[in-house]
Amino acid sequence: MSNAPGTPAVAPMLGPVLGIETSCDETAAAVYDPLRGLLSNRLYSQTELHRSYGGVVPEIASRSHIEKIEIIVSQALSDAGMTLADITTIGVTTTPGLPGSLLVGCCFAKGLAYGAQKQLIGVNHLSGHIYSACIEQNVPFPFLCLTASGGHTSLYYVRDYTTFTLLGTTLDDASGEAFDKVAKLMNLGYPGGPRIETLAEQVNFQDFFHYPRLKKKTLSFSFSGLKTAVLYNLVEQGAYDLPTKTFLEPENISLQQKVASSLLVCVKDIFIDRLSQALEQHPDAQAITFVGGVACNKYLRREISAWAQKKQRPLFFPSPCYCTDNAAMIAFVAHKKAVQGLFDDLSLDIF
Ligand code: KG4
Ligand code: ZN
Repeated sequence: MSNAPGTPAVAPMLGPVLGIETSCDETAAAVYDPLRGLLSNRLYSQTELHRSYGGVVPEIASRSHIEKIEIIVSQALSDAGMTLADITTIGVTTTPGLPGSLLVGCCFAKGLAYGAQKQLIGVNHLSGHIYSACIEQNVPFPFLCLTASGGHTSLYYVRDYTTFTLLGTTLDDASGEAFDKVAKLMNLGYPGGPRIETLAEQVNFQDFFHYPRLKKKTLSFSFSGLKTAVLYNLVEQGAYDLPTKTFLEPENISLQQKVASSLLVCVKDIFIDRLSQALEQHPDAQAITFVGGVACNKYLRREISAWAQKKQRPLFFPSPCYCTDNAAMIAFVAHKKAVQGLFDDLSLDIF
């Protein structure tokens, strides 16, 4: 820490926090007030810009952030009934994420902090997800957190607002990525998770194809093999042509439903297996949280709730708007860091 702009010159002030998030394909800003809670939460989603590519294109993402960030921040301030003058601290995501996207948010936040003499705090995007269930509810510590998104699938033991331990993470693809890639195989569009859920619901979440579960004593995850298993399952059924990478049955809704449902049930089993092992290793955990974009999935919420109930632990998940990427979680974590005096100066950088 130093006394350069961005760092409190005298005693730090605990006032309203402006949070900024640009790590991937959402430009987001939010205001969190220590006394009144979350006052605003604005977001521009780039989903439509990337849809035809079947995934996020980094160059398009960073250009779009540059176009939108100023208006989104202004809207978040005005929704909160504030101007920049009312803000004491700016929290911004600095890692992990797409470098070009992170740089837009980080440079914007540093410019604001310098120009308007605000305190500055860099926030890890994953810690944003980890504490996202705490924005609206009091989650008792310590708790186990399953973070499942398009970029990450990890299990954490969370001791308090600043200390958490990674218990296991994915060795390859994330769970949301598996949904997105399987959806792409069947021309279902991006993002795949919601489409997979809708199709699976239509056949009542039955397990038709019994995709491999990798039953091992481990807290790690691996989803790339699952995607390959689905691919070869489609090839075997004559529904996918490997040499031309073409899905041959776009009108076969029944097949899409069966694949989607079997995939979702498989992911559910893997999640519950890892959560069970984690709880065996950390029986002092008072609660379970399920967060990240994949935690929007109502079937997974229901099944993990039933499991948690059997284990006599309360399960908390955020409202869907705090599951997918958002700036509310970044403003919230920045406030918790401000309470601890964990400020940054203008040398703040990404990664
Ligand atoms: O947290 P998020 O917005 O972005 C990352 O940080 O990655 O998560 C996006 C991911 C995508 O992979 C998307 O397919 C998945 O969350 N997702 C879902 C559902 N809604 C979004 N996965 C399963 N079921 C859903 N309902
Ligand atoms: Zn995320």
